[in-house]
Amino acid sequence: MSAITFTARKIEDAAKGSTQCAILPMYHRKKLSREAQQLDAASGGAIKAAMTLGDFSGKSGESCLLPGTGGARRILLVGCGDPATFDRAAAREFARSLVKAINTTRAGDAVLHVADLHSKDGSMPWLLTTLARQLTCATYRYTETVSKPKPAMKLARLVINTGDARSVKAGQKALERGAAVGHGINEARRLADLPGNVCTPSYLAQQARKLARDNAKLSTTILEEKKMRELGMGSLLSVTAGTEQPAKLIVMNYKGGKPGHKPYVLVGKGITFDSGGISLKPGAKMDEMKFDMGGAASVFGTLHTVAELGLPLNVIGIVAAAENMPSGRATKPGDVVTSMSGKTIEVLNTDAEGRLVLCDALTYAGRFKPQVVIDIATLTGACVVALGSHATGLFANHDKLAEQLLDAGVESHDRGWRMPLWDDYQKQLDSNFADMANIGSAGGGSVTAACFLARFTEDYHWAHLDIAGSAWDSSPKGATGRPVGMLAQYLMERAD
Ligand code: BES
Ligand code: MN
Ligand code: ZN
Repeated sequence: MSAITFTARKIEDAAKGSTQCAILPMYHRKKLSREAQQLDAASGGAIKAAMTLGDFSGKSGESCLLPGTGGARRILLVGCGDPATFDRAAAREFARSLVKAINTTRAGDAVLHVADLHSKDGSMPWLLTTLARQLTCATYRYTETVSKPKPAMKLARLVINTGDARSVKAGQKALERGAAVGHGINEARRLADLPGNVCTPSYLAQQARKLARDNAKLSTTILEEKKMRELGMGSLLSVTAGTEQPAKLIVMNYKGGKPGHKPYVLVGKGITFDSGGISLKPGAKMDEMKFDMGGAASVFGTLHTVAELGLPLNVIGIVAAAENMPSGRATKPGDVVTSMSGKTIEVLNTDAEGRLVLCDALTYAGRFKPQVVIDIATLTGACVVALGSHATGLFANHDKLAEQLLDAGVESHDRGWRMPLWDDYQKQLDSNFADMANIGSAGGGSVTAACFLARFTEDYHWAHLDIAGSAWDSSPKGATGRPVGMLAQYLMERAD
């Protein structure tokens, strides 16, 4: 995959120095910025001419490519709209226009002059992190199983002129954070976009080993089915009973913090294909159930970001990887299984498999004496009904953790919405034949799923992110890489 390197710098004269493209963010009908004046003068008034002729006015969404002058081979004007309403949303819109406009050129490097850009509700570091993240995400291409992938983005180097020497250092840090989060998001998308016949539990295990090979602070342990049986993970194993693919419990241990410091533990649902099992799903859109490992993908992506930034934290990623298939050996509705915690579960519906793999992984997470545990799962269709695709469903047994995650979601524009975990819902899980059923009686499906998990997480601070709606785009089809943005932001804030 192509990547863009970002460099913050102070440039005295925008018309001097060589670049394939000088990019000027321009507010609607506002006096030209210092850099725009410099380039306008050097180009014999080309910028003012474009505005007088009406080719460009600086409206949001507008862009205008002009011939270069001096060292700048091209000049690209990108509209920012009204400065009075240039908020975070407008800044994100500006980044989208920028990507679109730069992709109409063949420029491999560019200089972006941002001194004049001030988002009303976002700081300069926020703006630079957002820009670097959005540009990095724009380089993503799905290549693995297509003969002629879409051409890579040409832009490979972007210098950002902060206009001020004092902000260069903080600017560089902000850019690096944005790029690292973008890389993590792209990695999560890549894994979730892969088809189920490529991205199997064994493939995910291999990816974890690779992550450990590439990062000195990261080590990986893979628990095979035999080990899971010894640990008593009857719930997780019941999901994998019908498939030929061996299940894997993947543990990735990132040691960036002090040895005694309690780890942040991320637990991902890694169902590499969810057919529903004996409670078979209907055929329509069943292909999309290859992304039922979106939670696992976000654990990989977040660890990728954490390792790239070398955050001074201890972070453990646990992925419960299995395939959910029907067969003569598959678990049947009515079967009762015993989880690692000792609690018994009546499997009333084999399509409610996510909670069955997660409960054992969550019990296992307890042995790391975690600071917090956050699980991430494409858990319920009911969450899609409740929140659609814009918000991740957020459940937590600890208010402060919930607030920190909600804040991180706002800051990274990868937002969650808190849902209830009230005891009142718990009795919907009552079973006559086991300690609990794996599905609730009618109503509140995303809540009863979370309530099921809550029974296995009483010993630590815990949050559950239901990403069934937020991790996948249906048109055009593809993974979104969420909630890597939220999780990476949460961890960066803990590191600061
Ligand atoms: N992986 C699905 C949930 C899902 C549905 C994710 C749509 C993304 C889009 C999960 O394993 C599932 O099948 N859940 C069932 C639970 C039900 C049987 C209680 C569901 O939501 O229908
Ligand atoms: Mn299912
Ligand atoms: Zn599922």
